[in-house]
Order: sequence, then C-alpha cells, then structure tokens
Amino acid sequence: MTTHLLSVDSLSKDQVDHLLRVASRMEPIAARRKVTRVLEGAVLGNLFFEASTRTRVSFNAAFCRLGGSVCDTTGFTFSSMAKGESLYDTSRVMSGYCDAIVMRHPDQGSVAEFAEATNVPVINGGDGPGEHPSQALLDLYTIDKEFTRLGKHLGGAHLLLTGDLKHGRTVHSLIKLLSLYEPLRITLVSPPGLEMPGQLVDLVASRGHRVEQRESLDSDFGDLDVVYTTRIQKERFTDELSESFAGVSQDFRVDRAFLDNHCSATTIVMHPLPRDSRPGANDLNVDLNGDPRLAIFRQTDNGIPVRMAIFATLLGVEELIEKEMRDVRWFVPETFGVDDRQL
Ligand code: NCD
Repeated sequence: MTTHLLSVDSLSKDQVDHLLRVASRMEPIAARRKVTRVLEGAVLGNLFFEASTRTRVSFNAAFCRLGGSVCDTTGFTFSSMAKGESLYDTSRVMSGYCDAIVMRHPDQGSVAEFAEATNVPVINGGDGPGEHPSQALLDLYTIDKEFTRLGKHLGGAHLLLTGDLKHGRTVHSLIKLLSLYEPLRITLVSPPGLEMPGQLVDLVASRGHRVEQRESLDSDFGDLDVVYTTRIQKERFTDELSESFAGVSQDFRVDRAFLDNHCSATTIVMHPLPRDSRPGANDLNVDLNGDPRLAIFRQTDNGIPVRMAIFATLLGVEELIEKEMRDVRWFVPETFGVDDRQL
C-alpha cells in the first residue's frame, strides 16, 4: 500500500482485497471479545475541519483499539488555521507529533496538499465534495459481508445509488471502488442538478459496468440488491442551486412504501449517515427502523474493523494482530443496539 490513503484511485483490486481481509481479522477486537496493543506508543492526529460524528470517532476508536493514543482538533476556530497558517506548515508541525494523521477539510484537494508536506501516513477523512476512501472501503466491506450471509455474489449485482450524487464524496469513492470488480448494474437517481459527475459515470461505464441515470424514484428498476441512499448536502449548494432546488417537488425519500414497491426480502438498504430525519427531508425515512434490511448500523459498526485495517496496513503491523490478541475482561452486551436484527 502507498504511504497515504487520499483517494481510492491509489488502490489496486488486490490491495482492496487485502485490506478487507485484514478488516475481517479485526472483527474479534471490533466486537470487543479480544484486545490488542500492536500500536502501543503510537499517536494519531485526528484533524477535523468539518462536522463529523462517526468518521472522527470511529477513526479515534479504531486507533485506540489497536493500543494507540489520539490527539485531535475540531473546527477552524480553535486551530492555527484561523490565524492564517498554511496547510503546509500545519502538516509539518503535526508530523513532529503524530505517527498517522486523519484529516477532514471542506476544500476538495486540501488533504492531498496537506499530505505533500509529510512523510507520516495521511488518511483523507473527506475533502469537500471530493473523496472519502475509508467510507467506500467500509461500504464495500458491508456489501461483501451482507452478500456472503445472503449467499449472493457481487458480480452482476444491481445497485441503486440515490440522493445528492453531485456533492456526496462517499458515492464518488464508492462507485470508483466498485468499478474495480466484476461487471455490475448501477442505477443512479438524483434530483435535477445533483447528478453524479459525468467523468465518474464515464469511468465506470468504460470499465464494463452498466450505468443508467434516472430522474425519479418512481421508476421500474427491476431487481435491486442494494439501495444506497445519501443526504442532500445543502451546505454545499451555490445560491443558484438553492433556488432551483426549492422548486423540486419530486419525492426522493426512501421509505417503507419505496421498499414495498421496489425491493425484495433480500435488498439491503445503506446510507453513509448522517440521515436527515427532520420532517419533510428527502432522505432515508425513520419508518424503516427495525427492518432487518436496513443495514445502516451494521455499516457504521463495520467502520471500526475497516479503519483498524487501514491503520494496521499503513503502519505495517497487520501480521502481528493474532499474536497479540488477548481476551476482553469487561462486560460487553450481546448486541450493541436495542433494535439490532440481522437479515
Ligand atoms: C458523510 C460525509 O461526511 O461525507 N458521512 C460520513 O462520513 N459517513 C455524508 C454526509 O455528510 O452526508
């Protein structure tokens, strides 16, 4: 693997497969049955200049579960960037303190610029509407795990990606990652003005996948294996887009009625989260809570083994994991959520 994880573009299919295999070896630790100290003494710098709950906390928890410690900053207000410090200087400073750095920043390309000034591994935790490679890896890991349990194969599967495909960095990384695999059928549905960037559609089609774009969720999709929904990212809208979006009357909400009409008993429903649960939001509806097809919390749980695998691989300790494992000594509940149900 390369020094940094900035984009899924730097990963070959073999490297992705290796990471996913390492992630599955992390499961006993992520499930809190085992502990390890392979990163004892190592320090992670977790720099988040944009809102985050799961990405920031799960990178933090993943590093801690490998035995390391974490130093973090959140937002511009309390960082020296508010005093005009450059990405270059911040990067060099943090490199003297930390053994790995995760950064999220509102500008596309900013994490790559930051990484140019350091020899310490940098992971892109989301650069504006650019990429979110660790999320794509955990999404692929989730699809693989769910499909294995359901006796399905990725090759030939039909995935529906919906929502804000223009600004959704998770779908930008995911569609590129999926395109490394056997031919898939991918249907894209987004409100007008929020379509998947054309170069990504072209790239995926050029790798032999069948990609179709639709304007409404009220279509005949045929069999669906995965419905991947995303939040409308109004915070990234230009004034012009805000005006045109205000007039969008179509319903882009994925809810129970959508599942009843378009999905089978084995269609899994995913979302990178957060979902907008406010009334009237065009997002994944809470009326699906408790439905075993809703894989969103299995997906967030998978963030831990996958991010542990990323750290272990970048820092070269993945072969030491099993040697170092010990039993957990504290109380661990049977399931982590009160509504958890497997499909
Ligand atoms: C997303 C993100 O920040 O890109 N969430 C995540 O990291 N899991 C999606 C979003 O903000 O809607």
